[in-house]
Amino acid sequence: MLGLGSYLPERVLTNAELEARRELDTTDEWIVRRTGIRERHLAAEHEATSDLATRAAQACLADAGVAPAELDLIIVATVTPDMPFPATACLVQSKLGADETAGYDLLLGCTGFVSALATGAQFIQTGALRRVLVIGADTLSRVTDWTDRSTCVLFGDGAGAVLLGPGEPGEGLLSFAMSNNGAAADLLTLPAGGSRLRVTPEAAAAHLDCIRMEGRELFRLAVEGIPAAAQDAMRRADVAPADIDLMVMHQANIRIIDAAAQRLAFEPEKVAVTIDAHGNTSAASMPLALDELRRQGRLSPGDTILLVGFGAGFALAAAVLRW
Ligand code: UT7
Repeated sequence: MLGLGSYLPERVLTNAELEARRELDTTDEWIVRRTGIRERHLAAEHEATSDLATRAAQACLADAGVAPAELDLIIVATVTPDMPFPATACLVQSKLGADETAGYDLLLGCTGFVSALATGAQFIQTGALRRVLVIGADTLSRVTDWTDRSTCVLFGDGAGAVLLGPGEPGEGLLSFAMSNNGAAADLLTLPAGGSRLRVTPEAAAAHLDCIRMEGRELFRLAVEGIPAAAQDAMRRADVAPADIDLMVMHQANIRIIDAAAQRLAFEPEKVAVTIDAHGNTSAASMPLALDELRRQGRLSPGDTILLVGFGAGFALAAAVLRW
């Protein structure tokens, strides 16, 4: 792990502002009690996912002291690309000035960052590449149904990036465990805008171009799935729960984080919580949390970190890292 960086758009949307929108019929009290979210950041009108991703990438490269021209590959985990094609990675490459660097997007929702990390690490571990930039970036505010209180209070925008390079044995990515349950794919969808359903005026009027979510069932799958994926990754890395210095889960709901941590018997001090300030930022949530925890002095070189992502798919991915 050669570098880390993140970016949050300037505009902060508080629960009080959502509560003030009478037609939503929600309260700060409900949002905090049921989700742990207090505020979230929203991209400016002129900002798209590639802009957020580029800002995070620039911070990450500055942290690593690596120039854009040294990059071999850029992987962008996102479900909100600037457009279906070209790949957001191509736009980021151009904005960074990383001439001719290869790249592509990885579309796996909130699980995308961990899967992109595992993917990028393979190129390093085989010796094929030396500098792989892995970015998690999403602008969910653009696909949020702002009339649906059951979803619009949850999401925020942001981006985070890590730079991977060759290290010593026992450093970097020690293990990963990935699984999908496509039978549960209907629980979290963006129905229109793909090859199944175009964004017709009728589809847009029905908000089919926005996130649809069966929250309760996802909640259940997450609380059951996170501990299993975490244990799988720890077993593959040959580390015990006591060896983990920091656990970073996808930030979807404080009650999911608390329930999963409790099942794993992890002390709260070991568990990252940034959902209060970021909301659910999909693929960006874990690198954003890593950067925030480092700023707080809770992430140091040599630490053993457990990441667990979960979300649309229903997909799960866990990884153990030595920072
Ligand atoms: O990131 C990808 C993965 N995502 C997840 O894993 C999300 C998992 N699910 C969740 O985090 C939770 O299910 C939610 C936060 C989405 C919802 O919380 P919940 O405790 O499961 O609420 P619910 O959907 O069971 O709704 C409970 C009540 C309902 O009212 P009734 O039917 O009991 O009268 C809802 O209409 O809360 C109502 N409600 C709200 N009330 C005020 C739903 N949203 C709101 C709201 N404000 N914003």
